[in-house]
Amino acid sequence: MVEKIKIAGIAGSLRKGAYSKAVLNAAKELAPEGTDFEICGIEDIPPFNQDMEGNMPNSVKEVKAKLMAADAIVIVTPEYNFSFPGVLKNAIDALSRPEGGKSANPFDSKPLAIMSNSPYMLGGSRAYYQLRQVFVYLNANVLNRPEVIIPFVNDKLDKEGRLSDEATREHIKKQLEALVQAVRKKSA
Ligand SMILES: Cc1cc2nc3c(=O)[nH]c(=O)nc-3n(C[C@H](O)[C@H](O)[C@H](O)COP(=O)(O)O)c2cc1C
Repeated sequence: MVEKIKIAGIAGSLRKGAYSKAVLNAAKELAPEGTDFEICGIEDIPPFNQDMEGNMPNSVKEVKAKLMAADAIVIVTPEYNFSFPGVLKNAIDALSRPEGGKSANPFDSKPLAIMSNSPYMLGGSRAYYQLRQVFVYLNANVLNRPEVIIPFVNDKLDKEGRLSDEATREHIKKQLEALVQAVRKKSA
């Protein structure tokens, strides 16, 4: 049996009805065949401080184990004050730090797709580019294209809060296909 490609997904918003969660749920639905898409919550990750290194709480260890095991990562971010939310930065900081003296950066050399969204016209594009910058240090293999930047996301959901806009769904699908290609290229 051919092993499935594992994709781990993170939404950068803790809000119950977050548009970012709706986009991430759509990504899970639209992930190409032969993949296993798991959503990883960052709700329980506490404020990081460096004293936690070597004795990370289970909430960090659990998400980190999923990211380490993943072949690729998807992050959907909203935009807060022209950047991405602090909770997402906090989670990335905690998840990227060494444990027990071992360097264990789950993003290192890993194909990573970023999606941003906003109810406004620029679709969180400033958050998108600021988030990319973080992954320069973390040495992730961030997809250059297609970019998924979703403006007016609130108009693209149905009554149940599901991302239903067909053009947007198609675009997400293309990015996920490119992500899977990047995984295949890496292991070829
Ligand atoms: C603290 C804060 C700052 C915000 N700043 C921006 C911003 O810079 N650009 C933008 O497009 N929307 C901004 N918004 C509006 C968010 O896009 C909107 O609240 C969105 O629903 C948040 O994403 P979520 O639905 O995934 O939680 C801001 C919202 C908050 C709470």
